[in-house]
Amino acid sequence: MDIEAEIRALQLDSAEDNNATLIPEDAKPEEVEMTDKVEEEGMTDEVDTKSQPVQAEPKVKDKEVADMDCAEVPDEMESQKKRHLNVVFIGHVDAGKSTTGGQILFLSGQVDDRTIQKYEKEAKDKSRESWYMAYIMDTNEEERVKGKTVEVGRAQFETETTRFTILDAPGHKSYVPNMISGASQADIGVLVISARKGEFETGYERGGQTREHVQLAKTLGVSKLLVVVNKMDDHTVNWSKERYDEIESKMVPFLRSSGYNVKKDVQFLPISGLVGTNMKTRVDKNICPWWNGPCLFEALDSVEVPVRDPKGSYRMPIIDKFKDMGTVVMGKVESGSICEGDSLLVMPNKAPVKVLAVYCDEDKVRRAGPGENLRVRLSGIEEEDISSGFVLSSVVKPIPTVTEFTAQLQILELLENAIFTAGYKAVLHIHSVVEECEIVELLQQIDPKTKKPMKKKVLFVKNGAVVVCRIQVNSLICVEKFSDFPQLGRFTLRTEGKTIAVGKVTDLPSRSSA
Ligand code: GTP
Ligand code: MG
Repeated sequence: MDIEAEIRALQLDSAEDNNATLIPEDAKPEEVEMTDKVEEEGMTDEVDTKSQPVQAEPKVKDKEVADMDCAEVPDEMESQKKRHLNVVFIGHVDAGKSTTGGQILFLSGQVDDRTIQKYEKEAKDKSRESWYMAYIMDTNEEERVKGKTVEVGRAQFETETTRFTILDAPGHKSYVPNMISGASQADIGVLVISARKGEFETGYERGGQTREHVQLAKTLGVSKLLVVVNKMDDHTVNWSKERYDEIESKMVPFLRSSGYNVKKDVQFLPISGLVGTNMKTRVDKNICPWWNGPCLFEALDSVEVPVRDPKGSYRMPIIDKFKDMGTVVMGKVESGSICEGDSLLVMPNKAPVKVLAVYCDEDKVRRAGPGENLRVRLSGIEEEDISSGFVLSSVVKPIPTVTEFTAQLQILELLENAIFTAGYKAVLHIHSVVEECEIVELLQQIDPKTKKPMKKKVLFVKNGAVVVCRIQVNSLICVEKFSDFPQLGRFTLRTEGKTIAVGKVTDLPSRSSA
């Protein structure tokens, strides 16, 4: 079976099968039923943050804050009233993600000319002249010497309507786990594709990260994609409409087969990240007479944000921690709101903690809601007692903890000669958890055509199969059923550095609840 057919078989979020839907928030019209169900089950008291009145300076005292429903507490950030979006930059190695991210910071006035000159000199000294823009995002020495992003870079910028957090993922295949962690914190993605002769082809071919990143992004909940066709200034491209159209026409069927609704959730545009063309202002007709669409800033500004529920049970997967006048944890709020003074649990340890302070970007805030990337200072726990993958969770409804769960898996591409059967071992990536796991039992194979379980007992499956199985890990991990919290119930399995399957948690053992 060729790769297109395999991915088409990836019916995990097909419109026809609501049970198999991976991504309800970007539901097609037919999927509304599923979206409603999720809201009914987990998010009853829906509040649209946008429609809340703008609050002036908060007038509540600290003690009162702790006693109030956190979602009701006014917040300094709220008064600015700009919406917030987390944007992950994904795509094949050297496509120009860091260069484009760096250029955005330059164009939004956060990097001055002197710093750029310094980077130009440093890049030249390292024989990497053209990498100077990428140095804005690639801040460590290894990244600058090799010209490759390793750690997910972070930065902030603002447009008229929106505060953006940029997450600059690495493209190299060795660092896919870091890309997964970046994408799992994002709401939308900018897929960067190089239009340079040969480079688009390498990224797009089997095993290229253009494909792998798209599939992972979809699985990790990145609901919208801006596809930027980059390096349009390159001498092999020269703003050619033909080249742009060729790339778009090849990408569209692939994006569609990966589960994206191309009309609704995907937008293409040509740019030069290095020169900064069609980014803050639209490209000059003298350079590109055929482009009548938006520039990158306009496109980012007009992306719609998924609705989030500030009143849900608090869930913040921890991606990092450090010591700083107490224990500080970092992560993105997936559900609920957090306030100074809150009592919470660090799961799976069930460790009771108190929130001493909440920081959003560089600002200390009184309250923060879902979608925000935060640093939270806690008392009641030592830094060494926390690992990434733990979840800061509400006390009333803590996140379930398990060593085993049932899942529906879509097998993408196994290693050569590998058989997917009971006993198969892989690395599980679910929100910020990275754990060795073992498939302990295959329960049912799903017919990709009818979406119904097949009658025959299943002992092993091949590429493209959809299978329900039991998965075990050695230590307790925090997971949710996909139908309750999609973001905490979708996962990927990887073996020897390759993504071999994507899946969703369908059932938890009854004793799992904390
Ligand atoms: P990884 O982080 O390793 O995945 O790469 P990346 O996608 O971040 O690419 P990076 O920004 O490091 O750029 C790689 C190379 O492409 C550098 O030499 C850049 O100068 C070049 N490049 C990036 N954008 C453009 C562009 O718009 N035009 C041209 N001509 N070159 C570009
Ligand atoms: Mg990079």
